[in-house]
Amino acid sequence: MAKKSFYIETYGCEMNKSDSIDISLSMESSGYSKSDRPEDADIVIINTCAVRYNAEERIQGRIGFYKSLSKKLGKDQTVVIAGCMAQEWGRKILEDYDNVSIVAGTYHYLRIPELVREYDETGRKIAAIEKQDYRFSNFKGERAESFSAWVNIIKGCSNYCSYCIVPFLRGLEKSKPHEEIISEVKELVDRGVVEITLLGQNVNVYGKDNNDITFVELLEMLNEIEGLKWIRFLTSHPKDFNPGMIERISKIEKVCKHFHLPLQSGSDKILKLMNRRYSVEKYYEIVDAIRMFNNDYSITTDIIVGFPGETEEDFLKTLEVVKRVEFDDAFMYRYSDRPYTKASKLENKVPFNVMRARLEELIEVQRKITYEKNRSEIGKTEEALVVRPSKKSEEEMLCRIKKGKMVVVPTKARPGSFIKLKITGISGNTLKGEEVTVSESLRI
Ligand code: SAH
Ligand code: SF4
Ligand code: F3S
Repeated sequence: MAKKSFYIETYGCEMNKSDSIDISLSMESSGYSKSDRPEDADIVIINTCAVRYNAEERIQGRIGFYKSLSKKLGKDQTVVIAGCMAQEWGRKILEDYDNVSIVAGTYHYLRIPELVREYDETGRKIAAIEKQDYRFSNFKGERAESFSAWVNIIKGCSNYCSYCIVPFLRGLEKSKPHEEIISEVKELVDRGVVEITLLGQNVNVYGKDNNDITFVELLEMLNEIEGLKWIRFLTSHPKDFNPGMIERISKIEKVCKHFHLPLQSGSDKILKLMNRRYSVEKYYEIVDAIRMFNNDYSITTDIIVGFPGETEEDFLKTLEVVKRVEFDDAFMYRYSDRPYTKASKLENKVPFNVMRARLEELIEVQRKITYEKNRSEIGKTEEALVVRPSKKSEEEMLCRIKKGKMVVVPTKARPGSFIKLKITGISGNTLKGEEVTVSESLRI
């Protein structure tokens, strides 16, 4: 009999995308084959996100899509809902959507092959959402899909920012023992990985829950791995960062020059209500330290507008911080009420129209800053990792520089190799550059 095939689609953060690699590997090692097209698959896995209401709406739409696809194809596909929304909704998904057969919460992502088999044998729908001891996957080198790989170093989150559902769905922080991380990265490098991105909701507290080495020590150890070229990480929580850590990190050669440092709000009153546990002053202290130890870092952020109780004055404070820090880029969101959270129970909700107007204003302010920051890169010579051909032309490659920005360059170099480039211009939001040949680079 032919192998049963599965198709997987993923929403949400990098951690979820990384989990999808483990889900695929667990399916493949249990005898299922991966399909690139949903139409061809016997099993469809949707790895979901629940961080904002509109993320959930989108997934509800996808479940509906698979219902009509099944009808059109005239075959029953087994639909599996995995990830954060599965953990939140549980059995209710089975009640609301008759085409869903399996709900696999965040503690059960590696059990999906087992659950599919059980469903095939019994025909009974399953909701596996009990919280239990969390297991990191055993897949290491197999996780390499290309020259760049994600490495999960800490799961969950214990911060309970008052607006955020993640701690309720992903449980408390749990660090992966550093020996396992080191062997995973070595295996990845053996398979050709040159760039890794360490993942966690708050990487700065790595090792604290289990008395392991600290995050900075982990970076220093990873820096010693031969063949590994670049180390990235996200996300850093400002409350767990300090100038001393930044100084040490800035001296680690392979660590890339980029911090993703969510601000969320520029008003101390709102930060307090958000339970972020830092002040704007502390945030500035970190930014100033980053720029003092190496002025050529990029800093990106996340901002929420319209948190309950946010007045015009609070919003103006956010704009002020945005203008003073000059973020290279920002992910900006309207506040969304989430189940279980403290913020959802607060009064003084900001009307939708007001949130929308604030978001538009903030996006416009940041758009200009992003443009100016990009413009200030023109003329610089940088080492870059060739990532993939640009959409427009096979002759042009999208290359990532150490700061994380992408530059389009005409080059014959292959994806996964490093080149030296000079940034020559900008079109829209895209940096453009040219390759610097060896003889030219000798002249620099
Ligand atoms: N752990 C990371 C980010 C997790 S979620 C951190 O702490 O920074 C990614 C972003 O989604 C958050 O930074 C926040 O800006 C946004 N977010 C989370 N919950 C939200 C909510 N209820 N409404 C709107 N945005 C939210
Ligand atoms: Fe959510 Fe806050 Fe944890 Fe980030 S740090 S995942 S925003 S609770
Ligand atoms: Fe979404 Fe879960 Fe990540 S809620 S942002 S997929 S941790």
